[in-house]
Amino acid sequence: MASTNQKPGREVFSSRAAFLFAAIGSAVGLGNIWRFPYVAYDSGGGAFLIPYIVALLTAGIPLLFFDYAIGHRFRGSAPKSFHRLRSWAEPVGWIQTGVSFFITLYYSVIVGWALIYAFKSLTQPWGGDADSYFFKDFLRMETSHLLTFDFVWPIAIALLAVWIMVILVLAAGVDRGIGIVSKIFIPLLAILFIIVVLFSLTLEGAATGLNALFTPNWSALKNPTVWLAAYGQIFFSLSVAFGIMLTYASYLKPRSNLTGTGLVTAFANSSFEVLAGVGVFSTLGFMAVKSGVPVEDVATSGIGLAFVAFPTVISQMGGLLGGIFGFLFFLSLFIAGITSLMSLFEVVVGAAQDKFNLERKTAVIGIGAVMTVLSLLLFPTTSGLVALDIMDKFTNSIGIVSVAIIAIVVVDWLLHRSDELALHLNAVSSFRVGTIWRICVSNLTPVVLFVMLFQEIISLIKEPYGGYQSGQVALFGWAVLAIIFIGAMVMTIVPWRGEQFLAGPPGSDFGVRTARQLEARTPRQAVSIETPTQQEEQS
Ligand code: ALA
Repeated sequence: MASTNQKPGREVFSSRAAFLFAAIGSAVGLGNIWRFPYVAYDSGGGAFLIPYIVALLTAGIPLLFFDYAIGHRFRGSAPKSFHRLRSWAEPVGWIQTGVSFFITLYYSVIVGWALIYAFKSLTQPWGGDADSYFFKDFLRMETSHLLTFDFVWPIAIALLAVWIMVILVLAAGVDRGIGIVSKIFIPLLAILFIIVVLFSLTLEGAATGLNALFTPNWSALKNPTVWLAAYGQIFFSLSVAFGIMLTYASYLKPRSNLTGTGLVTAFANSSFEVLAGVGVFSTLGFMAVKSGVPVEDVATSGIGLAFVAFPTVISQMGGLLGGIFGFLFFLSLFIAGITSLMSLFEVVVGAAQDKFNLERKTAVIGIGAVMTVLSLLLFPTTSGLVALDIMDKFTNSIGIVSVAIIAIVVVDWLLHRSDELALHLNAVSSFRVGTIWRICVSNLTPVVLFVMLFQEIISLIKEPYGGYQSGQVALFGWAVLAIIFIGAMVMTIVPWRGEQFLAGPPGSDFGVRTARQLEARTPRQAVSIETPTQQEEQS
């Protein structure tokens, strides 16, 4: 039964399965299907798997637990949870919300492309030149203007359709919308993608592609950039540090196995990632053998990999077979993308709902309308790809990484609340966290992330990203970051509506108790599961 035993305003996932599928749906996204294979390939092939696993174990999973613990313990959206930790920490939650806001804006258009390409695969209008078709005919890309407002109507219509779907799902509710859709879509995605991967393994040249991916280049391990790429990949891919898993965990019932669910989510996500690597590289091997060039010459970065390489393969396979293969591949990309998009949008909806004490439908429709208009103005236009590429780079490399560092510094270094979070995790979960988790979260991760951020900022200052004009980088990169950080301060000053901080809902004492007090209680008491504490927030 959903939310019957909850105070009005906070919904819950009705079952562990609903939450698990929603979390996997969020994690498995565009990052797994087009980003991982290319990053892995570009960062030392098989040798990348070592930094990848290290990053997963030392940062990905520990920060996933960290996000779950904050969201579950403080039972709020990112701003509300951080406010409950300590009122001056609220901007951290808003920075996370801001990062998700901008990622949602451009992520939605890529999901729209995937939807269009699923159908285009059936007729293959790109003929023998998928590259020029994608950039010139499909996107009608031009790089010289800042904003053209010259709309590419098929993409605008697909984008609108994607937004309507996401708004409808979120308006239906956390459990009845996100939970139900994830329970249907994620198993479907797994089946579809396994079919695509098995099929790709039968292609001529698959072994050539797999060799390119899995032949280790050990010298790459000495390159710090490879390690940093692995950390970056894990953060985006696992949806950690920008409010998503925190928000989803706030909709869990008080007694929920956080770490057990987290481990399943992380391993499902990584399995999917490796599966995607196998599928994509078998296909690239096929392409390389057919066109008589080495695999490294057919593999292009990010967006190009999916929307250029696959259509090329589809045409080479020809007719009905190519059509079915392409349809399944792009349908998988669409499903993976839309379930992640729901989670990104939920971060913003949850934050607005909490801050302004809004009904879910009002928040979803109101925020959704504003975001739909913004993404329609910015992305399905002839200047859209430039805006998308720059915004993606800055929100990921600087936005996510810096807010991850800020969150750790605030929660652990300044407020010393990690012990309390560990106790909370252990009180409800099957897999216990201890010293290793503390070291990973408090010491190792912030140091590695700081190095990563520092290097990235220096290189972005030295030359404009991607060879774009400095005005474009200033607007879609630096200005977006400024809006996120300044916006976080402004939103913190805006007063909370309703009497949200006078009393806590069941299942939380909002950090009123110190870690030592918690330790003195039994694990079950430590989260005061059954008894509403009705304590006033301390700060
Ligand atoms: N975790 C999501 C992805 O991989 C955002 O695309």
